[in-house]
Amino acid sequence: MGLKPATNPDVEAVAIELSIDGKSVTAKGGVSLYDVISSTGKIIPAMCYHYTFDPFGSCGMCLVMQEGKKAPVRSCTAKATAGMIIRTEGDDLFQARKKAVEKHLSVHPLDCPVCDADGHCELQDTAFQHGVTNLANAKQKFIPEDTRSPVLDFNMNRCIACAECINVCKDVLMIDALQFMKKGGFNQVVPKGDLALSCEFCGDCLAVCPVGAITNKFSKYLYKPWQMKKTTTTCNYCGDGCQMYLETKDAEVVRVTSPLSWKNKWGDRAETAKGHGGLCVRGRFGFEYIDSAARMKQPLLRKGNQLVETPWLETMHQVVDRFSEIRRKHGPDAIAGLITARCTNEELYLFQKLMRAGFGTNHLDSSARYGHLNFVHASRHALGIGRSPNDWEDLTKAKAVLLIGSNITETNPLTAVRIKEAIRVYNAQVVVIDSTVTNMAKLASHPVLIKPGTEGLVIDGIVKATLDLDLIDEDCTKKHPQAFKALKAAVAHISLEKVAARTGMSVEALKNTATIFAESSRSIILCAEGIVRQPHGYQNVLKLIDLAWVTGKLGQPGCGVNTVTEEPNEQGAVDMGAAPEFLPGQASFDDQTARDRFAKAWDVTLPAAGSGANLVEILKRCRSGQIRALYVIGENPLATLPASMEVRAALDRLELLVVQDPFLTDTARMAHAVLPACTFAEKDGTFTNLEGRVLRVREAIDPIGESLPDWHIMTALANALGCQWEYESSNDIQAEIMKLLPGYYNLGQPRKVVPSVDRYLSNGYATDVAARYRASAPSDPKNQRPFALLMGQVLYHSGKMSTKAPGLITIAPNTGRLRMNPQDMERLAVGEGTTVRLTSDRGSMQLAVQPDQSIAPQTCFFPEHFNEPPVKDLMLVQVDPTTGVPSFKQTRVTIEKA
Ligand code: SF4
Ligand code: SF4
Ligand code: SF4
Ligand code: FES
Repeated sequence: MGLKPATNPDVEAVAIELSIDGKSVTAKGGVSLYDVISSTGKIIPAMCYHYTFDPFGSCGMCLVMQEGKKAPVRSCTAKATAGMIIRTEGDDLFQARKKAVEKHLSVHPLDCPVCDADGHCELQDTAFQHGVTNLANAKQKFIPEDTRSPVLDFNMNRCIACAECINVCKDVLMIDALQFMKKGGFNQVVPKGDLALSCEFCGDCLAVCPVGAITNKFSKYLYKPWQMKKTTTTCNYCGDGCQMYLETKDAEVVRVTSPLSWKNKWGDRAETAKGHGGLCVRGRFGFEYIDSAARMKQPLLRKGNQLVETPWLETMHQVVDRFSEIRRKHGPDAIAGLITARCTNEELYLFQKLMRAGFGTNHLDSSARYGHLNFVHASRHALGIGRSPNDWEDLTKAKAVLLIGSNITETNPLTAVRIKEAIRVYNAQVVVIDSTVTNMAKLASHPVLIKPGTEGLVIDGIVKATLDLDLIDEDCTKKHPQAFKALKAAVAHISLEKVAARTGMSVEALKNTATIFAESSRSIILCAEGIVRQPHGYQNVLKLIDLAWVTGKLGQPGCGVNTVTEEPNEQGAVDMGAAPEFLPGQASFDDQTARDRFAKAWDVTLPAAGSGANLVEILKRCRSGQIRALYVIGENPLATLPASMEVRAALDRLELLVVQDPFLTDTARMAHAVLPACTFAEKDGTFTNLEGRVLRVREAIDPIGESLPDWHIMTALANALGCQWEYESSNDIQAEIMKLLPGYYNLGQPRKVVPSVDRYLSNGYATDVAARYRASAPSDPKNQRPFALLMGQVLYHSGKMSTKAPGLITIAPNTGRLRMNPQDMERLAVGEGTTVRLTSDRGSMQLAVQPDQSIAPQTCFFPEHFNEPPVKDLMLVQVDPTTGVPSFKQTRVTIEKA
């Protein structure tokens, strides 16, 4: 850790001068000499060095001569000091480095022809650069390959003991799954304890390994690096928006790599605050769904009880005829549409335009409705911005992070790495408040385990503690005395002791959290599924905004209230207007000026102001027969929503259900027509990530079968309905969006948003605030089922799409088992695999159990990605009255031995 503080903004590093190859160089004192040399543009070979972690100093390649020393110095582990006189070139250094390469090669198997790293190997490169031709001393190690991991194979014959894999895992990712172990006379990298690798399977160790010692099980022996086409694109799994390279051979995606690589080892450590360039397991190993055999390759049309493969032309004729007929007979409001936030911005834009300008209805929604819209509405209402204000750099450099209701390693693993860097490099205090023992809780300075579903009460307690302890920022509160008075009155009834008793968070912890948050100079709140996907999510976000306001953290650099997005383009879905309440740019659908602007641009009359149905309302109207035709793009409500929402009944009643998807989903099986859509790998466009960055999605392979990009299908449909759309590519749609939303495509940079609470505080706050702190009677535990059943995401999956990726299913198959705390299992006298009866107010089912230490006592968990058995059907649904967000991820259950 010795060299890191120089990059910490709180540590003022001294500026020093030293001489490198006769030139005077100014640098920060205490940083690696290697970093100083490479900052001058001079690249010395360095096989064990990577700028993202501390130097290890094992390979012996980065040698330089320092005046006053007889032998060459390893520049990576040497600290730069004032007055150093350094020479980086010369025959002596060349020979010394050559010797180091020869030493590595003397115990290297030279099986380059069958090595995945052939042609992409730092050892090969340095051997070539130094003219190493005499390999007569090469000695074989004959170490058996370790193939026990589901995704990575370890061939220690090829290892040069550089420790890059160990260091990235320990230092950058704080996972620490690997170690050196002396085995068979050689220092080998093994999973901790020499057991089968059990880790997050992010593959970053594979990325930084400079040789072919760690290989990707899914692509081994499938390619030579020079056969591959490399396409830079954005991951399609979560809202982190990681940049990745889809490497393809012919029409097949062979592997996924990313900017983190031994080939990309030079950089300023301060830059890692924006991201270290790695991927998570989903991004790196979840690509095989793209060319899965299960992909839809041709349109299907219902003929009798069968879905029959039918040519595009015939299918589209039928679809258009039936949509047109329904519109003619019953009006445009008999039609509705749903779209996934895995579509690109351009497609989401086109979708809402198709629904509004093509069909003439405002009945449309996207998967942002499952939670993100709670955050968007609260933030817009209070601050005038419908998005998170902070980017990854703010998060990394925060001094205090309040992470509430977020199992962030599971949902947004690379945002989690930012918090890890905040802890490790910037010494941030991190308070993790959750009802699960999350991975981040284990690393945080202040982990707090609370009772499930009590996040809102916890916020009440923190706000109250902030006022009680007078942790307020008077400059902010004095500006709005009425609002502050109203807040004080609203929380007056709150007793910290009662909050503690109901939530499990002690009074001391509540006060401590309030103090840490208020007293830190850069304080960030990050709330996620435990807030936005739960009942009262909208109100709870507003309460977090109250906390940030009274402590003076709104609008301050590096401070703010944020959320994460679980799907890649939930933010884009909202920004593009794929919600009945928004036109593109988050303009209110009822705002006359905005309506006029879009009506003019699209040359149509928009559906009436105040019209429009969201997801829950659409399903209701399908059931009642008001909506007769539904167009579903990439969504799968039948598999997502609990039985109590009667999705099957709603879909059954439809006269026309058209599903557009890369796969034949449960919803698609009920459709009258199924249109095969491309995945993100087969199309161009953009996603907007959780920081508000607009990131490019690029076509890496041709569409599979006869599938087409969603924008292409929508354009064809619109034109057949009588629109005159001339889009020939995603770029054409982008050009239109650019005109209507100037500045949106600030590619690669988050658009700056400045939250402003003044309007709200002086207008409406005082009447609003009491409602969100209204006391709710605690439920009598005697009348309550004893366990909380939670459903949520696991790291290895994302929605249902990842379940089509064999690599991810190999790592995390559906066990069909309920995860429970081992103590609870003991109390119920059930062992691993024992069948239990799980009963909620909605019904009952039998399933086996498995122990999981991360599950808190009196809680049980089932991953939301799987429907066998259909645990989701035990869930009750509560719809937020302001935002229409349906919450269905938590309920009370009884567990009995079956
Ligand atoms: S895959 Fe990731 S978590 Fe696992 S050992 Fe490698 S770097 Fe560590
Ligand atoms: S496995 Fe690769 S990265 Fe790890 S020590 Fe060996 S050569 Fe280095
Ligand atoms: S799933 Fe999310 S964190 Fe993982 S690689 Fe993709 S965008 Fe990054
Ligand atoms: S890079 Fe310095 S010893 Fe390896």
